[in-house]
Amino acid sequence: MSSIQYLPGKEPDPREHRLIFKNIDRSGWDASIDCYLKDGGYEQLKKAIKLEPSAITNEVKASGLRGRGGAGFPTGVKWGFIPPNNTKPVYLICNCDESEPGTFKDRYIVHQDPHQLIEGMVISAYAVGAHVAYIYMREEFPEAAQIIEKSIADARAKNFIGKDVLGSGFDLEIYVHRGAGAYICGEETGLIESLEGKRPYPRIKPPYFPAALGLYMAPTIVNNVESLCHVKHIMEMGSEEYAKLGSPRNTGTRILCVSGDVKKPGYYEVQVGKITMGELLNDVCGGPLDGRKFKACIPGGSSSKILRCDETFKIGRGDDEKELSFFDIPMDFDTMAACGTMAGSGGVIVLDDSRKMSWVLNNINHFYAHESCGQCTPCREGSMWMRKISDRIVEGKATPEDIKTLEEVAYQIDGRTVCAFGEASSWPVEAMIDKFRDELTSETSEDNEYLSEEAQKQLKYISQ
Ligand SMILES: Cc1cc2nc3c(=O)[nH]c(=O)nc-3n(C[C@H](O)[C@H](O)[C@H](O)COP(=O)(O)O)c2cc1C
Ligand code: SF4
Repeated sequence: MSSIQYLPGKEPDPREHRLIFKNIDRSGWDASIDCYLKDGGYEQLKKAIKLEPSAITNEVKASGLRGRGGAGFPTGVKWGFIPPNNTKPVYLICNCDESEPGTFKDRYIVHQDPHQLIEGMVISAYAVGAHVAYIYMREEFPEAAQIIEKSIADARAKNFIGKDVLGSGFDLEIYVHRGAGAYICGEETGLIESLEGKRPYPRIKPPYFPAALGLYMAPTIVNNVESLCHVKHIMEMGSEEYAKLGSPRNTGTRILCVSGDVKKPGYYEVQVGKITMGELLNDVCGGPLDGRKFKACIPGGSSSKILRCDETFKIGRGDDEKELSFFDIPMDFDTMAACGTMAGSGGVIVLDDSRKMSWVLNNINHFYAHESCGQCTPCREGSMWMRKISDRIVEGKATPEDIKTLEEVAYQIDGRTVCAFGEASSWPVEAMIDKFRDELTSETSEDNEYLSEEAQKQLKYISQ
């Protein structure tokens, strides 16, 4: 990797470990198939296609790879959920909706290294027995759609896709499906409904776990762009070497997308859990802006619970219990969860002491109120009410009672909806009030008028 040259000003930080982003911003690199082939492209597919599909799934399982789309679910385990006696077609879907605010990695992969994704997809499709695969791409990525369409055509011309891939007897078609620009189309069952040509109302799980009942009610594996790219590297390195990267149960590398109030925002690929929040924000990202202090951080996309930069966390149990400061938190799935938040999609949003938390919360509430698909009442009505109440706070019209109402609405959504959007919209509110109650309350006044009687009636209705 050291021999690779990057464009001036785009060199990776020395603390990075680039697998997936190895070719991003590389000097002399382009997205063509010729460039990819010169660099050893599709060699892993040639290797994989000679193996038994189950051997690839076992490698992915042994690598410990966890999905990079948000939930961190082990990829090989998910593949293993396809019913063994299945007689229906199996589908593979690459989730390129990249809709979680704060996340900007998948588009770079498609723009600059599309064949890495295609190679990862063909190997994965072969492993799970899919002969049709889709790339579900958000509407807002028109350039990425053109690039990936051309790349698929070029890969087909070389017989990496199509009938009898590389003479193996394995057939695979990959289609690109453009979304209509809705956040909920990133949720895997909403995505599947959309792909079937319907309104993207998420399906209830159980029973509709895609690996059993997915696209056209057939077994379907939905994986994020970055997750599918990792499959190629697991084949290249072998699961044992791959699993040495990162930390136990949190293996490999992942791309962190840092935005907000730091000197050097951007994307950084690091070994999972091998870098702390402090190292990321202070060393890699250059620290806070001049004259400012870090105040808070939303560590895994807008749905993850906000953390204060001055708080400490007790994690572990018994003899293993320890206290961590915010800056000591290793950036891995399990520690993030133990600290009451989640590593999510890797979108790290940094807020300094110039930020008013009411403004941050209101911004988030507007997003979720706009994006709720409307299928379930707690989410549809609740997200709208959370926005209305945070509007009142930022407009200086709220009473202290409004904060309590806001909190209650959030808890009424949490756990009562068809899909995890309910939690995605309510967790930011719950955490913000938990961590910044005094600041939010200081923006309210007893002199303001509390919600109208009519509004209170409506709220009572959704709280039942
Ligand atoms: C509201 C919502 C939006 C989501 N948006 C995305 C998305 O844009 N991209 C993505 O890969 N996963 C997204 N997910 C997660 C997917 O449902 C699914 O878990 C993921 O694509 C699985 O891939 P992985 O196992 O490789 O992470 C979203 C989930 C929810 C609840
Ligand atoms: S939780 Fe929200 S986004 Fe999910 S199905 Fe219900 S209304 Fe739609």
